[in-house]
Amino acid sequence: MEKKSILITGGAGFIGSHVVRLFVNKYPDYQIVNFDKLTYAGNLENLRDVDQKPNYTFVKGDILDEAFVEETFVKYSITCVIHLAAESHVDRSITNPLEFIQTNVIGTANLMNVARRFWGDDFSDKLFYHVSTDEVYGSLGETGYFTEDTPYDPRSPYSSSKASSDHLVRAYHHTYGFPMVISNCSNNYGANQFPEKLIPLFINNIKEEKPLPVYGKGDNVRDWLWVNDHADAIDVIFHEGKEGETYNIGGNNEWQNIHLIKALCKIMDEKLGREEGASEKLIAYVQDRSGHDQRYAIDASKLKNDLNWSPSIEFEEGLENTVQWYLDNSEWLDNVTSGDYKKYYDQQYNAR
Ligand code: NAD
Ligand code: TYD
Repeated sequence: MEKKSILITGGAGFIGSHVVRLFVNKYPDYQIVNFDKLTYAGNLENLRDVDQKPNYTFVKGDILDEAFVEETFVKYSITCVIHLAAESHVDRSITNPLEFIQTNVIGTANLMNVARRFWGDDFSDKLFYHVSTDEVYGSLGETGYFTEDTPYDPRSPYSSSKASSDHLVRAYHHTYGFPMVISNCSNNYGANQFPEKLIPLFINNIKEEKPLPVYGKGDNVRDWLWVNDHADAIDVIFHEGKEGETYNIGGNNEWQNIHLIKALCKIMDEKLGREEGASEKLIAYVQDRSGHDQRYAIDASKLKNDLNWSPSIEFEEGLENTVQWYLDNSEWLDNVTSGDYKKYYDQQYNAR
C-alpha cells in the first residue's frame, strides 16, 4: 500500500475521533495528523487509546490560521485531507451564525488554498475529502428521500454554511481540477458525542432526572446512523470513491423524535433499574426551534450500488451500546458538562 500522510481536521471531535481511530489502527503505514483547535467540542480524551501510536500526531491549530495550516502541510508532507473540522450544532448556529460562516466556509476555503499551493499542479495521489451533512438538501414532507441530485435548499445558518462549503469544494474541482470527494451524511449517534445533540443530551438529563426538552410537537423526523458506521463509510469512500463525486450516507433508519425519545427512556429505565415509565415522566414539550426542519431522509443507494457499503448494526443495538457507553464513562460526561456547558444549557433552555 502506498504511503499517505493524511491531515484529519476536527479529529478530536465526535465523528473525527472515530475516523482517526479507524485510520490509525487499520493503516499503520499511513501517517495520521489530527489537526484540531480544541473548541468546546474537541476533546483529546476521545483518543486516549491511540494517541501513543507511532503513526499518530496531534497538532493544535485553527483552520482559519492559514500560515499555520501551511506550516503543518510542509512539516508533514500532507498528501490527503479528510476535512471534518466545523461548528456543528444547529441551535448554536441560530445564536451565533458568524462563527459558523468563519469556520465552515472560510476555514474550508483556507484549507483548499493551502492544499493547492502545496500540491501545485501535481494532483496525483492527492485527495481532499470534504465531510458534510444531509441538512444541505433542506427539509422533506412526509414522503421522499434526498438523493445526490436533490437541489440544495439549506434552511439554518449551520446547513447554509455547510452548503456554501460544499459548493466551494465543487467549484475548486470544476475551476482548478482540485481532487475532491464529498459525502453528505444523516444524523450520527454513538460514543463521545457532545451532550448538546439530542441523544447524549437526553441521556444526561435522564440520568440526572432533569426535564427532557422536546422541541415543538416532537414529530420531526431524523435518519440516525451509528458513528462507527459513518467512519467506516468514510474509509470506503476515501479509498474507493470516484474523484469529483458526491455520496450520500444514511442509516435507512427514520425516527420521529418522540418515538426515539420514548425508546431511549425505556432503555434508560431498564439500565438504571428505575420503574417502567419513570423517565417518560420527565418529557417536557418546549418552544420549537426557529426554522426547525421537519424531516430528513437519505437515499444511500449510490453508496450501496457503487461501493457496496451499508450500515452494520440495527438502531436498537446501537442505541443500547451508546447508552451503556455513557453510563460506563460518567467521568467523560461529568468533565464535558462542567464549566461552560451549564452556561450554554441555561442560555438555550431556561427561557424556552
Ligand atoms: P463536533 O462539533 O463534535 O466536532 C468538531 C471538531 O472540529 C471539534 O473537535 C472542534 O474542536 C474542531 N474545530 C472546530 N472549529 C475548528 C477550527 N476553526 N479549526 C480546527 N478545528 C476546529 O462535530 P461532529 O459532529 O463530529 O461533526 C464533524 C463533521 O461532520 C462536521 O463537518 C459536520 O458538519 C459533519 N456531520 C456531522 C453530523 C452529525 O450528526 N454530527 C452528520 C453529518 C455530517
Ligand atoms: P440535533 O441532535 O440537534 O440534530 P439536528 O438538528 O442537526 O438534526 O436534533 C435532532 C432532533 O431533535 C431535531 O429535530 C431537534 C430535536 N431536539 C429536541 O427536540 N430537543 C433538544 O434539546 C435537541 C438538542 C434537539
